[in-house]
Amino acid sequence: PANTLLPKPQMGWNSWNVFKCDIDEGKIKAAADAMVSSGMKAAGYEYVVIDDCWAEQYRDGSGNLVAHKVRFRSGIKALADYVHARGLKIGIYSSAGLHTCTASPEGFKQPGSIGHEQQDANLFASWDIDYLKYDNCGDRLGQSNEQRYTAMGKALRNTGRDIVYAVCNWGEAEPWLFVPRVGGNSWRTTGDIWDSWTAVTSLLDQQKGLEPFAKPGAWNDPDMLEVGNGHQTLTEYRSHFSLWALLNAPLLSGNNLATMSADIRDILTNRDVIAVDQDWGGSQGRLVRDLGNGTQVWAKPNSDGSVAVVLFNRGTATTTVSTTAAEVGLGGSTSYSLKDLWSKAQSTSTGSISASVPGHGVVMYRVWRQGATVAPPASGVHQVSAMP
Ligand code: GLA
Repeated sequence: PANTLLPKPQMGWNSWNVFKCDIDEGKIKAAADAMVSSGMKAAGYEYVVIDDCWAEQYRDGSGNLVAHKVRFRSGIKALADYVHARGLKIGIYSSAGLHTCTASPEGFKQPGSIGHEQQDANLFASWDIDYLKYDNCGDRLGQSNEQRYTAMGKALRNTGRDIVYAVCNWGEAEPWLFVPRVGGNSWRTTGDIWDSWTAVTSLLDQQKGLEPFAKPGAWNDPDMLEVGNGHQTLTEYRSHFSLWALLNAPLLSGNNLATMSADIRDILTNRDVIAVDQDWGGSQGRLVRDLGNGTQVWAKPNSDGSVAVVLFNRGTATTTVSTTAAEVGLGGSTSYSLKDLWSKAQSTSTGSISASVPGHGVVMYRVWRQGATVAPPASGVHQVSAMP
């Protein structure tokens, strides 16, 4: 059967950014519990994804992967049941090579799935897994990138279970060209994120030009969120979250959900920003204008004819950042309504879209035409051609 999963970018949590290989079933359960109690589930977060280091070093006598005997002593099926009982879905991790990327706390790397694609997919399906992150480490046995990722795509479909296929083939040329063809629902566009402003801006810059490749069911993945991991300011985390939403990126939180502050929870659960991420208006967001002084305008069409606009200040001093409705693809009216998606303030404008933006900050608006003098495009119509 065809893969029709992820009509909207995946939302959830992944263990890697905060815990790296220091994971166990208690931490995964705590994340699932916190996803519910924090209001994240209600805001749309769904997948609880176990990253690298959940398995033993060996396969068992039948060739199956084995959950770590100490850290995942109850087994993955029991953990899946726990997550499902909370109305959430569960994801797991493997690699398209002989082993995964990082050594466990015990000092070994778990086996990857190359040559065992169907066996591992069947095992994951038998555990009621809903999502696979498939990484790019370990010996590839001479196989091409496309061969390796095709094999797992087919294996997942053969199980008959709906398993999201999140391809993580960082370091390869242009995964966006073939991953959709092999049934991948998302593909990493870059190397790994880390919790720093430099990483966020550098990964953002690498997304430019990838807009045409994203579509429902197949998303560009600029990597998981670092919001709440402690090395950036709240202003910076708001920028990170706003820009990832503008890109229709997977919103996979990567912080400790069980201990996060209310400020971090409020960023991750901003429903207006999440709504932009989850809306398909015909294109993911793009850089509309670089004003050359460290400020940028990013915009994304929404299916209701509105446009999401991020006024972005990459510098350190507060600066006014300005654009116009016409420049972001919303010409044809003499009046516009704006909602500031962080302050929630509403305003009207004759076309100017402008704000004072703190250093490393954004102001994010959703902008609608009022009393349009030309008909706005029908819902869902590709608006990119209207954008410069
Ligand atoms: C790679 C991936 C990361 C993470 C680690 C785990 O670096 O890109 O997201 O999964 O492997 O080892």
